[in-house]
Amino acid sequence: MSDHPEDTFFPVPARLLDKAQCPEPYITSVEQYQKMYRQSIDHPEEFFGKLATELLSWSKPFHTVRHGGLEHGDIAWFLEGQLNASYNCVDRHAISTPNKVAMIYEADEPNQSENITYGELLRKVSQLAGALRARGIRKGDTVAIYMPMIPEAVVAFLACARIGALHSVVFAGFSSEALRDRINDGNSRVVLTSDQGKRGGKTIETKKIVDEALKSCPSVETVIVCQRTGHSEVPMTPGRDVWWGDEVSRQPNYLAPEAMHSEDPLFLLYTSGSTGQPKGVMHTTAGYLLGAAATVKYVFDYHPGDIFACMADVGWITGHTYIVYGPLSLGATTVLFESIPTYPTPSRYWELIAKHKVTQFYTAPTAIRALRRLGDSWVEGHDLSSLRVLGTVGEPINPEAWHWYNDKVGKGRCAIVDTYWQTETGSHIITPLPGAIATKPGSATFPFFGIDLAILDPVTGKELDGNDVTGVLAVKKAWPSIARTIYGDHKRFMETYLRPYPGYYFTGDGATRDKDGYIWIRGRVDDVINVSGHRLSTAEIESALIMHPTVAEAAVIGANDDVTGQCIHAFVCLKPGISSHSNDLPKELILQVRKVIGPFAAPKKIYLVEDLPKTRSGKLMRRILRKLVAGEKDSLGDISTLADPSVVAALIVKVESS
Ligand code: WT7
Repeated sequence: MSDHPEDTFFPVPARLLDKAQCPEPYITSVEQYQKMYRQSIDHPEEFFGKLATELLSWSKPFHTVRHGGLEHGDIAWFLEGQLNASYNCVDRHAISTPNKVAMIYEADEPNQSENITYGELLRKVSQLAGALRARGIRKGDTVAIYMPMIPEAVVAFLACARIGALHSVVFAGFSSEALRDRINDGNSRVVLTSDQGKRGGKTIETKKIVDEALKSCPSVETVIVCQRTGHSEVPMTPGRDVWWGDEVSRQPNYLAPEAMHSEDPLFLLYTSGSTGQPKGVMHTTAGYLLGAAATVKYVFDYHPGDIFACMADVGWITGHTYIVYGPLSLGATTVLFESIPTYPTPSRYWELIAKHKVTQFYTAPTAIRALRRLGDSWVEGHDLSSLRVLGTVGEPINPEAWHWYNDKVGKGRCAIVDTYWQTETGSHIITPLPGAIATKPGSATFPFFGIDLAILDPVTGKELDGNDVTGVLAVKKAWPSIARTIYGDHKRFMETYLRPYPGYYFTGDGATRDKDGYIWIRGRVDDVINVSGHRLSTAEIESALIMHPTVAEAAVIGANDDVTGQCIHAFVCLKPGISSHSNDLPKELILQVRKVIGPFAAPKKIYLVEDLPKTRSGKLMRRILRKLVAGEKDSLGDISTLADPSVVAALIVKVESS
């Protein structure tokens, strides 16, 4: 094996192409991939028109496959067509295979798993949809979902989709303040939640967090509360809070789905950018659903009978697309995992795979790195023979973690798919295909169908043609599942994604196309930090810190971390007259961030400093802080533009002594 990751090829495992052992992959050679890819780029109308007819059910056919584009930000697909996402994910399978398991709920305690069939799912979704209607929710209204990983969360997604309400799922690890801001930005009229949550043996006070948030959410009329534990005395606000069980029990078993236009919004999902304000990324019905279905089919090589297990939380885009919409639209069995990889022991993932005979398994590099560190004994001795495709997502995977995943989990007989995508792309945009693409550990390999990639010179915006080039990653043409706008702020959508390099969708990531044409993602080029595959903005964390009464200024950077990929380091200047000697202050500041954003955004290190490095015009030079923390004080680059170059010496002392 070569030392250069660029020269290390892993061919498709022979087992995957052996019909005696595995179902035949849909795409079995790189030539077949290239042919289909070319067609998807050169004749998108034909390619996606056919795919949308094959994979989705329409109540009214579309005529115009593609309309508008990146230049004007008026992207539309499958115009004139009508369909309903919940019909596609539930009804059509409930009709053909009512007793097939739609969802395996693997509860926090391993002995409490539960199966839900498509027939049962249709009833549950219809009843909640009826309850929402009864509470006045109509097509176009927004419903906030703040729930743990329980089956009702998935039911909530689909009930909203059934009546044409936009769901706005807020990850249940967000604080009450972050929840409040997202509810208000989306004008949510209803909040769906639970009494408590369970995760890794711990209890989470879900409803209490909602109550705190709702102290300043004027748009919310109703809170529907599901019982996850039933253990606590949850305070219910009369006239506003109702029990889920009571609401649905009054509803009939079937409610007809609302016919939606292709471009009617399906959901909002908030994500961080380079400014402090989170963005409500909006996806629409047909294009998004097609991206979800097509990638589960081709990237995970889903075949009927497969058991699909995505370990993400439904609060992130990965959960939306690869727990809910993708697998269910194809009529698959999807696994909903409520716990964490180390509960009750670090064998949990492997027990789950063996117990449910999982065929596709999808997780983040950070989880793989954490489990690898705990030792091989936890993964040995479990029957992982059902696995065919192992996916990773969220951040670049380092070759050591890739090899461990391939050797210890895949036993060298599975495909590893390093899938690159974003909240805004809706579904995978760069990824290997299991039966077709020889992989290189650490490379996301090639673009998915319809993704016309470009690597641009960051300064001139000129496209860098050919191989062996590095620049910023962009896409030249709109594809079906690209986000359509930022809720309530189309101007910001244009400015963030479509204006930086006119005519292109700008990803915010740097990338290399190597000598063989393989794509390597190099990480964000903006002020976004990636901690355990969670996207955080430096500005958002800085503004959380500044809200603390002692803080005058803050600068946040991403530092390398062996397990989480990046971690947060914060440089804080205190207000005049405040002593930096209080031992509790750093702890208090960390708490402040947990409170304003959520525990996952907590800084790992706080430096209390006198001054921050700024240019004469007052612009913060985070680059210098990044270099200092990385131990590269000798390659700071040009510091002559600093208003006061002497601050650097003081910062060096601070960083080196802590
Ligand atoms: C950012 C998007 C999309 C699901 C999870 C995160 C990084 C994502 C990869 C990958 C290298 C990756 C990028 C991207 N990212 N997947 N396979 N290799 N980097 O969604 O919160 O929207 O974040 O995650 O930096 O821009 P997200």
